[in-house]
Amino acid sequence: MDVGTPTITGNDHGNSAYPWDSFNPAQYVQDNYATLIEDDRQILQMVRDFFIAHAPAPGAHGVDVGAGANLYPMMAMLPFCDSVTLFEHSRSNLAWLQTQLPNFDAIWEPFWAVLAAKDDSPYSGVDPRVEAAKVHVQPGDLFELERRHWDLGTMFFVAESMSERPEEFAGALERFVHALRPGAPFAAAFMTQSPGYSVGGIRYPAVSVTVDDVRQKLNPLVEEVDVQPVFSGQVVKAQYKGMILALGRAGAAID
Ligand SMILES: C[S@@+](CC[C@H](N)C(=O)[O-])C[C@H]1O[C@@H](n2cnc3c(N)ncnc32)[C@H](O)[C@@H]1O
Repeated sequence: MDVGTPTITGNDHGNSAYPWDSFNPAQYVQDNYATLIEDDRQILQMVRDFFIAHAPAPGAHGVDVGAGANLYPMMAMLPFCDSVTLFEHSRSNLAWLQTQLPNFDAIWEPFWAVLAAKDDSPYSGVDPRVEAAKVHVQPGDLFELERRHWDLGTMFFVAESMSERPEEFAGALERFVHALRPGAPFAAAFMTQSPGYSVGGIRYPAVSVTVDDVRQKLNPLVEEVDVQPVFSGQVVKAQYKGMILALGRAGAAID
């Protein structure tokens, strides 16, 4: 079999057509997080500073939607939360997440170090492996997320990287924001103009989005949002055009 060819058959290129249970988390980590690249470092710093400035009230419950095989969004929420839910659809990613809690691999230590580098902040003096005891994994489909439930949220490289359908990109953003209580701070990250991606030879989809696309879809859903490009100029893989970071606070979900 030519492992580089798409596994999609028929005309359905929507989210449910892709083999999420075959997603290879070890390969994905190797491809994307084995070394901390400058763009992720900048995102971590901006998310850290935004969450410090807009910290939720004590007792907060956080959610990382489509957590997959990335621990750094969860790490950014840790000091502000009584619990953090890693919400994920893929069975292989769910199993991988369980292996990382609470004793995550050393590969994630440089990511935590960026957060902890801010002196006299909620991150300093915290042992993330101790804090990770309050993290749990929840299987589910983000299109069925509970509404107005969480006080702090992240969704990284999911809305634009789960389907080829622009309406599913927009729908995922809406579900994510509406899963948060009105006013809840959030961070969401996106690949800029992604053509799709391969993990261990299996092709996964993308909707090609720009800063303006993200801003346009988020604006009606939020109380406030800042959307900006993050690109140090380092081309880390073929066709890489950088990332997009949205930092904001949820608006009221309309019933
Ligand atoms: C490109 S990966 C991003 C993983 C991780 N958040 C990161 O920052 O690297 C896309 C993730 O979305 C998840 N996903 C795909 N469809 C989903 C759905 N309907 N509901 C929840 N998660 C989904 C996949 O299993 C995968 O973990």
